[in-house]
Amino acid sequence: MLNFDFHNPTHIVFGKDRIADLAELVPATAKVLILVGGESAEKTGTLGEVRQALGARTHSTFSGIEPNPSFETTMKAVEQVRAEGFDFLLAVGGGSVIDAAKFIAAAVPFEGDTWDILLKGGRNIDKALPFGTVLTLPATGSEMNNGSVITRRDIGAKLAFRSRHLFPVFSVLDPTKTYTLPVKQLANGVVDAFVHTVEQYLTYPVNAPVQDRFAEGLLQTLVEIGPRLLVSPEPVYDDRANLMWTATLALNGLIGAGVPQDWATHMIGHELTALHNIDHARTLAIVLPALLNERRAQKRDKLLQYGERIWGITTGTDDERITAAIDHTRDFFERMGIPTRLNAYGLGREAIDVVIRQLDAHGMTKLSEHGDLTIDVSRRILEAAL
Ligand code: NZQ
Ligand code: ZN
Repeated sequence: MLNFDFHNPTHIVFGKDRIADLAELVPATAKVLILVGGESAEKTGTLGEVRQALGARTHSTFSGIEPNPSFETTMKAVEQVRAEGFDFLLAVGGGSVIDAAKFIAAAVPFEGDTWDILLKGGRNIDKALPFGTVLTLPATGSEMNNGSVITRRDIGAKLAFRSRHLFPVFSVLDPTKTYTLPVKQLANGVVDAFVHTVEQYLTYPVNAPVQDRFAEGLLQTLVEIGPRLLVSPEPVYDDRANLMWTATLALNGLIGAGVPQDWATHMIGHELTALHNIDHARTLAIVLPALLNERRAQKRDKLLQYGERIWGITTGTDDERITAAIDHTRDFFERMGIPTRLNAYGLGREAIDVVIRQLDAHGMTKLSEHGDLTIDVSRRILEAAL
């Protein structure tokens, strides 16, 4: 096992009817800016519940944070916080709203050009406003980690940053808040959580059996409940609860502690979202099967373990077993209604050059657990994903 630090201070408040707990979770004297996306939080009644729980606290609402939140929109919120003196942020939504909250929290007290936060990956953040979250879409794990991804639309750049100052103080996880999600977002959530787990598990063995089995437990849970979520005529509480907690655990630092991590699928996927506005999880479903095939030598031992423990593949040569494991992965995404080829989005060979240029421009030239996934390898992966 590799050396590691693990510190996760986020207080998780999980279960039905927990939004009322905001009355105790948010400091009594806080001046709160509630952050929401489009219309969902208002329409579903969640925003009303939040406002009620805040009681007599001074609060206001900033709405319009778009999926794949933009630098431009978040900077408007930064100006409002600075001008009106809010001292606590409350994100109500999915990964996009929570990621936006993290950027706003870091940018408000930041001296200098806030775009530098993205350019430096957050290494230049030395303080942030406190913030909490009410999660409405289980997928990204942003509710219990210190990372965020912000897009600058004018230059087509989607960049990630992180800081130890950016863990939410608390996150309210009420599985019933997922009942209003369209099937497409549920499927996205399953696939995003699946790929987060794979990025931290499917690398090379370092004799870390607890992390392996924890990751395998998350993957098996997603394989079990994922397809069921798509067909249930009515939401089943336990399935929603298990999806929510699985997605949180997939990216709260626990399964990645002490093991190598890849993240190349995400870095290539971010470029596809920035250029073509494809949902985050959908980009991962395009890249991962092609990447696993390209990297079958580097990931050989773990691919065999994954094939056996997740998909029950125990016969055939090593190569046949690896091929079967990758086929099962692709088939799982497709069964979740998520295409695994670029051509499903009308993208052909001509799209690849631009993605490659952007990867190069963003310094994504030595990706993966080995740091040897070069631009040429990314090109081969994208060609295999056509
Ligand atoms: O905008 P509204 O009207 O709220 O609608 C949203 C949005 O259109 C809707 N929605 C959310 N909760 C709902 C709901 N609709 C009905 N009922 C509800 N309860 O769902 C749509 C998508 O929401 P979004 O927040 O964009 O989705 P997701 O949670 O998948 O977040 C994606 C963003 O997170 C980033 C992605 O790159 C992307 O920008 N990620 C963040 C990570 C992190 N911070 O650790 C890791 C991930 O790998 C990912 O990169
Ligand atoms: Zn993701």
